[in-house]
Amino acid sequence: MLIVMMLAVVVSACGKSSKVEVGIVLPTKDEPRWVQDEQRFKDALKDTKYSAEILFSQGSSAKEKENVDALIAKGIKVLIICPQDGDAAAGAVKAAKDAGITVISYDRLITNTDAVNYYVTFDNVAVGKAQAQYLVDHTKGNGQPLYLYAGAASDNNAFLFFEGAWSVLQPKIADGTFKVANSTEAIMLQDTAELSREQQSKIISQVTTNWEPSDAKNKAQTHLTAATADQKGDVAILAPNDGTARSIADVFGSDTAITSFVVSGQDAEKASIQSIIDGQQSMTVFKDVRDLVTSSIGMAVSILDDKTPETDGATDNGKVEVPTKQNDVIVVDKENVKALLIDSKYYEEKDFTGL
Ligand code: BGC
Repeated sequence: MLIVMMLAVVVSACGKSSKVEVGIVLPTKDEPRWVQDEQRFKDALKDTKYSAEILFSQGSSAKEKENVDALIAKGIKVLIICPQDGDAAAGAVKAAKDAGITVISYDRLITNTDAVNYYVTFDNVAVGKAQAQYLVDHTKGNGQPLYLYAGAASDNNAFLFFEGAWSVLQPKIADGTFKVANSTEAIMLQDTAELSREQQSKIISQVTTNWEPSDAKNKAQTHLTAATADQKGDVAILAPNDGTARSIADVFGSDTAITSFVVSGQDAEKASIQSIIDGQQSMTVFKDVRDLVTSSIGMAVSILDDKTPETDGATDNGKVEVPTKQNDVIVVDKENVKALLIDSKYYEEKDFTGL
């Protein structure tokens, strides 16, 4: 009798805890970008009747698979996942597909698998274009040293950012405005307007930061140690995101032979907004995470309500065309930071000094 009663309690407890409809898996808590996404998800979820659980992969594809398995076991119907590694995530999403779950690839594309139903992202090529255009518009040119840095090669976005940047920078390298200072592969390819994936890979593997500020710092130090006098002075730096931009800026800022630098970024992280106000980091690309969260939660709710989610295009992931929803990006620098991020109440004024 007692055993039967205890079993009943266990069963009902399981029944309750399994009512999670949406599983959300994000790459790491160690970068402010993804902690911001978590907060925006929590804010957006308050307005839905469905319950969700958010898990972090902490930079590990194995942990990511564990997270997905745990969410499958909880009976989720929709999985929103930003892959740690675009190819490696195929196994995790296959398990979800086999369990009848609809998979939404979030921000980063999951590649070379048919187990992805939707993709919600920003215009990633536009991010790279905006970073590069800023360097073009805010430097004097004429053989100016250009330092290139990229994201992790396991992240499809790193290729899209680089593709966008190269489309703007390559003509300026070819006409002598810029002179690449830190990549022999980029120099070899400087007359090639459109790079193949393999050609992009060659450059990215030389200048990758792996999305790690510490890797970015080490690489920048190595580059400046090797640089000749004509590769210093006034320089331009393509940095792929805010975390890496700040550490690269620290290295360039402490080299007395660097007289000035213009450095790009992305994500509008608070620390970079302060750095822009302080005149250290030059710009960031603001990707309004609320839009991404609203798009993907909206999609999840449509799926749960048996409706077809809205998309505005499709992306080839190497295996299938994935219906895609893309969001716009905005350039932020010292001139417009207050209007765009503070007056709009995206961030609070009290979190910054010197505005
Ligand atoms: C994201 C960026 C982020 C980077 C590193 C990219 O896929 O789009 O916003 O800074 O990953 O986490």
